[in-house]
Amino acid sequence: MLSSLSVIESADMLKRYLMACLAGGVLFIIYLLLKTSSFAIGSVPKAVVTRTEDSNVMSKTGSLFDEPATTTTEVDINLYSIRNPHLGPLFNISHDNIINFKHYPYWNSSFTFRQNSNWKNSTCTESLQKKAFTSKDFGQIFRPDIQMLINSDLFDVNEYRRLKRWTIPYGYEYRGRSIMYEEVGDTLKMFPSEDSIFKVSREGQTDCISCAVVGNGGILNGSRMGKEIDEHDFVFRVNQAYTRGYEDDVGSRTTHFVFFDRSLTLMKLEHYPVGQNITYIFVPCREADYSYLRTIGNGTNVFKAPPENVRVIHPDFMRYVHFVWMRVDSFRPTTGGIMTMVALHACDKLSLYGMGYNYKYSNHYFDTRYQEFLPVLLSHDHTREIKLWDTLDKEGIVYWYRRDVF
Ligand SMILES: *[C@@H]1O[C@H](CO)[C@@H](O)[C@H](O)[C@H]1NC(C)=O
Ligand SMILES: *[C@@H]1O[C@H](CO)[C@@H](O)[C@H](O)[C@H]1NC(C)=O
Ligand SMILES: *[C@@H]1O[C@H](CO)[C@@H](O)[C@H](O)[C@H]1NC(C)=O
Ligand SMILES: *[C@@H]1O[C@H](CO)[C@@H](O)[C@H](O)[C@H]1NC(C)=O
Ligand SMILES: *[C@@H]1O[C@H](CO)[C@@H](O)[C@H](O)[C@H]1NC(C)=O
Ligand SMILES: *[C@@H]1O[C@H](CO)[C@@H](O)[C@H](O)[C@H]1NC(C)=O
Repeated sequence: MLSSLSVIESADMLKRYLMACLAGGVLFIIYLLLKTSSFAIGSVPKAVVTRTEDSNVMSKTGSLFDEPATTTTEVDINLYSIRNPHLGPLFNISHDNIINFKHYPYWNSSFTFRQNSNWKNSTCTESLQKKAFTSKDFGQIFRPDIQMLINSDLFDVNEYRRLKRWTIPYGYEYRGRSIMYEEVGDTLKMFPSEDSIFKVSREGQTDCISCAVVGNGGILNGSRMGKEIDEHDFVFRVNQAYTRGYEDDVGSRTTHFVFFDRSLTLMKLEHYPVGQNITYIFVPCREADYSYLRTIGNGTNVFKAPPENVRVIHPDFMRYVHFVWMRVDSFRPTTGGIMTMVALHACDKLSLYGMGYNYKYSNHYFDTRYQEFLPVLLSHDHTREIKLWDTLDKEGIVYWYRRDVF
């Protein structure tokens, strides 16, 4: 076992780090790398990173949740008493067995979530929902009726007040101040008031919806999984979702693209996933993400995602995924992890490809030479995510393409 402690200072190393984790703006990084010779689940090296852009949202005390901002947006008190007819009821998930980070402020209310009153359970007899509801590990926490998307119908001053206390992406705190009510509201108004990631309603539908979630893992290089991936009803992709030139391995169809403001930074314009048939699922992670979204809404962004196809992830869904499923002390799940959770809570049959990291393969399937995956644990906990995919697969809830590793 090799153990090394190094301070990354050179621009080269810094660039490599950016490529590896898309964290962006890594300033001072100290990482401890523990390398093992096996490629098993537990072999993701432990990395300690003192500061990344994502983890900047952590307060000085190291909490994921900043203290509430001292200045609050003044709101018309009359608005407060108007009941929003679009909002479903709130529900709690028992957190007696979820022991991590009890010291966080708002711990108790962190387990209260908005229900989607339009949600219909699947009537597909083979649905993963049936297995998940009765699962020993996940039966108590699987709530596909949670409000997954937020839109302007579901956003009002009460809802803003309820959500404001948590740090983005779990709410609207960012670096000790609140993202303004108007800022969120005006952004959401640019996109349709849809509460499903599918254009068809569940109601009266007996067909089973099959989904493929395609991560960017190097495990797909040479996999020839393209045809199998394309055969699913829906194909989810994330970040730099290259397909052209990689069809044999990753397929060519994209129906859902999951992204945040820096997803496409390293991608050439001609490879951007753009199309009228693609649903764009946005994960707001920083304050800047709202102005990024507005440039998509008003067509001034170079990324020409049709605004009518854009959906925004609900802060409650993010909090549910993070606290209830991931239960880890990192900033947020990976964007690929969020994509998987979205599909798990919407599809009847789910297959995961290119998910999880492994040193046998390069970081990404599109790398031109081998690039080692470098985890940034303050931002994401990849080990926990790999464990989740493994357990979901072993319980037959999802299919996880493992190739010759994991
Ligand atoms: C959820 O739990 C909180 C306290 O933990 C309680 O105040 C609230 O009434 C509960 N809400 C629901 C909908 O059960
Ligand atoms: C939070 O929940 C715990 C039980 O999980 C309870 O003992 C405690 O009183 C609650 N705190 C508040 C402020 O509601
Ligand atoms: C969906 O099914 C679960 C498990 O049978 C049940 O607990 C839940 O109430 C159902 N939800 C809806 C909206 O019908
Ligand atoms: C978009 O979807 C429609 C309806 O399913 C289909 O007819 C059309 O060929 C699709 N367009 C592209 C570019 O895939
Ligand atoms: C589009 O939105 C951005 C972000 O809010 C704004 O800066 C820009 O002026 C807008 N452009 C147009 C043409 O509306
Ligand atoms: C992708 O696979 C090919 C053939 O298996 C191999 O030669 C190449 O080095 C791989 N690419 C990377 C970036 O690992």
